[in-house]
Amino acid sequence: MQFFADTAEIDDIKELAATGLLDGVTTNPSLIAKSGRDFMEVTREIAGLVDGPVSAEVVALDHETMMKEADKLRAIADNVCIKVPLTIDGLKTCKALTGDGTMVNVTLCFSANQALLAAKAGASFISPFVGRHDDNGFDGMALIEDIRLIYDNYNFATEILVASVRHVTHVLEAALIGADVMTAPPKVIKALFNHVLTDKGIEGFLKDWKSTGQSIL
Ligand code: G3P
Repeated sequence: MQFFADTAEIDDIKELAATGLLDGVTTNPSLIAKSGRDFMEVTREIAGLVDGPVSAEVVALDHETMMKEADKLRAIADNVCIKVPLTIDGLKTCKALTGDGTMVNVTLCFSANQALLAAKAGASFISPFVGRHDDNGFDGMALIEDIRLIYDNYNFATEILVASVRHVTHVLEAALIGADVMTAPPKVIKALFNHVLTDKGIEGFLKDWKSTGQSIL
């Protein structure tokens, strides 16, 4: 499963990229606003930090203006992936852009039927929001299971990008289902490394090692 960081914070992206485990980045208008940075400038900077896809979202609601915005965004770097909302105009834009060889991430997906439409529109990625689904009394992971089944039934190439990830259990469940990608805030990705028994184990080994009086170097 590929790991994307869901953030526009440069320091966090640099830290995660240095682990060698970061495959891409997703941003959205809220994350850009939170960063306080210029959209074009921060997208260019992020695209230079990772080799994989960097999602940058259009904000227009009509197809024609979405295409104009996408043209500006995709000119930033080859690894910029245009993010469009799951609307009729969004999917029209998706079809046009992917037909042109541009990566497209269809966002704000909350049903398996929407995911089916995105795959038919040739989306590179579909982003079901599991956390927001859970928040509203639905089962986000059941949605991922349904999409996995539908995409496998028809051999759709669209990759399932699990978004709105809130905790490490979401990541585990996404991997068990066979999602292609998950995007999570840096704090969730960092939490994946942690286990109390790892910390305890290191502490015990170091205590015993110290008692030998030896050094490796
Ligand atoms: O980038 C889209 C998605 O991951 C947003 O997550 O936590 O705002 O629901 P959240």
